[in-house]
Amino acid sequence: MTGLVVAMDGPSGSGKSSASRGVARALGLRYLDTGAMYRAITWWMLQRGVDLSDPEAIAARALDPVLTIGTDPDAPSVAVDGADALAPIRTSEVTAAVSAVSAVAEVRRRLVAEQREIIGAGDIVVEGRDIGTVVVPDAPVKIYLTASADARALRRTAELEGTTVQAQKAAMARRDTLDSTRRADPLTMAADAVELDTTALNLEEVVAEILRLIKEKA
Ligand code: C5P
Repeated sequence: MTGLVVAMDGPSGSGKSSASRGVARALGLRYLDTGAMYRAITWWMLQRGVDLSDPEAIAARALDPVLTIGTDPDAPSVAVDGADALAPIRTSEVTAAVSAVSAVAEVRRRLVAEQREIIGAGDIVVEGRDIGTVVVPDAPVKIYLTASADARALRRTAELEGTTVQAQKAAMARRDTLDSTRRADPLTMAADAVELDTTALNLEEVVAEILRLIKEKA
């Protein structure tokens, strides 16, 4: 299984992160959370007061932040300009702003190049929105995770404090629309991806199904 790349795409709340980490652990592979990279750039721009309603302002600073991200599924780490970003990139402020930053072509160009460098020779599970379509179009295994809007909102609400299912459903619908309608690398299923609906499955079942698909395909 040397060189294996597993591309995991899908909308927010589809269970990508837990499933990707689970698969990486089970097979002893590395794990790359590309969403964390877009979030880290967004956090940096918010801190510096970059006007996120202005794509040109975002593009002008796209190359400035220095990113470091770990690939151990058991020890996540993200830093920007040397500052630990693991907790701050999960705030609702960053979550609400990230789609504006990730829609900017200069940001994507930069991060896709860094992602390809990290992926290198493979042995890695990579999760995101454009992994099977743009970052690693020749990945031998591509999974597109989905779940009903209600199931996705329920999962997110359970992970976060001080929010309601209704509020989460609205916030996720907004982010999914922005992510799937942007011009640069929109969220879309690769023609050769396998779609896996996780609405009625628990994490163990999702991981088992992906491991079965990997065995079949890789
Ligand atoms: O997966 P996560 O919710 O952390 O991703 C945060 C955001 O980063 C997404 O809503 C999307 O705007 C952006 N993203 C992206 N391409 C990726 C991964 C994430 O545009 N490969």
